[in-house]
Amino acid sequence: MNPGGSVKDRAASAIVLEAERRGELPPGGTVVEGTAGNTGIGLAHVCNARGYRCVIVMPDNQSPEKYRLLEMLGAEVHQVPVVPYSNPNQYQKVAQRLAASLPNAVWSNQFDNTANRDTHARTTGPEIWAQTNGHIDAFVAATGTGGTFAGVAQYLKSRRSAVRCVLADPPGSSLYQYVRSGTLKATGSGSITEGIGIGRITANLEGAPIDDAVYIEDTDTVRYVYRLLHEEGLFLGSTSGINVAAAVRVAQGLGPGHTIVTVLCDSGAGCVGGMSLAPEVPWLIGGAAAAPIAAWVTSHVPQRAAATAVGVVVFVLGATGLFTTLT
Ligand SMILES: Cc1ncc(COP(=O)(O)O)c(C=O)c1O
Repeated sequence: MNPGGSVKDRAASAIVLEAERRGELPPGGTVVEGTAGNTGIGLAHVCNARGYRCVIVMPDNQSPEKYRLLEMLGAEVHQVPVVPYSNPNQYQKVAQRLAASLPNAVWSNQFDNTANRDTHARTTGPEIWAQTNGHIDAFVAATGTGGTFAGVAQYLKSRRSAVRCVLADPPGSSLYQYVRSGTLKATGSGSITEGIGIGRITANLEGAPIDDAVYIEDTDTVRYVYRLLHEEGLFLGSTSGINVAAAVRVAQGLGPGHTIVTVLCDSGAGCVGGMSLAPEVPWLIGGAAAAPIAAWVTSHVPQRAAATAVGVVVFVLGATGLFTTLT
């Protein structure tokens, strides 16, 4: 169960439990994190359940819904300007300093705290293996901290090394180039996606088995958010869109008869504000009939038959074990 509504609940819960286990978080203590949103939402739930104060530092360009929800959950939210990672006022560094300045506080440090990756190796990976009965040919996912990708890939490879683990990368992120050429170099510029894309190798991603990477433009990501909504009845966020777009790309490469697994990371409810920031996206206003897919989107949409040719794609929603198949 992911009560905060995203894949990040697993990281949040594991990080807090690990801090308790190490004796770093006394009863009534404080958990501080720098997060683009979903980890904060997960941490706020865990802190409520276990009696901790939750302090969240967030970049100020995230969907407004996420700030509101965090405050409703009782977290203390600090919005900071978006600056490069090298800047001392980058949100993760602000969170680290804040944690050091507060009594009985821990910095959750989701990017480099490997309790994040380990929980996916212990839970998400085995769930995928069990739900596919081990019949899985490829795992595909975008990365923020890299915890989901690395933990799942590590587990799947331990079961069968031939499972292809493919990283999906959005515009502005450096991992596509890193995987393809060994150099951390951004491809494209900014992205409407939230919580994914990075310019460095986190401790969670360090040493992860990565067979390949695919670069997905935002137009493709949005197209798949729409397809999932209109064809599958699933209202999902942008990272689900990029993951599915990348899974279909991998499926097209492997051909019919293969099983490709990806993660539907969160619901679309937390992304409406962010997605609507893209001026050309007629984002769900008035539903599908009132807001037909714009010409720029349909011009990129392959016919349904083209997707059928790629074989079966299985999508796992970690929260419920729900499977759906796009044919
Ligand atoms: C919605 C969403 N999807 C995907 C990710 C990336 O997951 P991970 O940090 O495990 O790489 C995040 C991370 O914050 C997220 O919020």
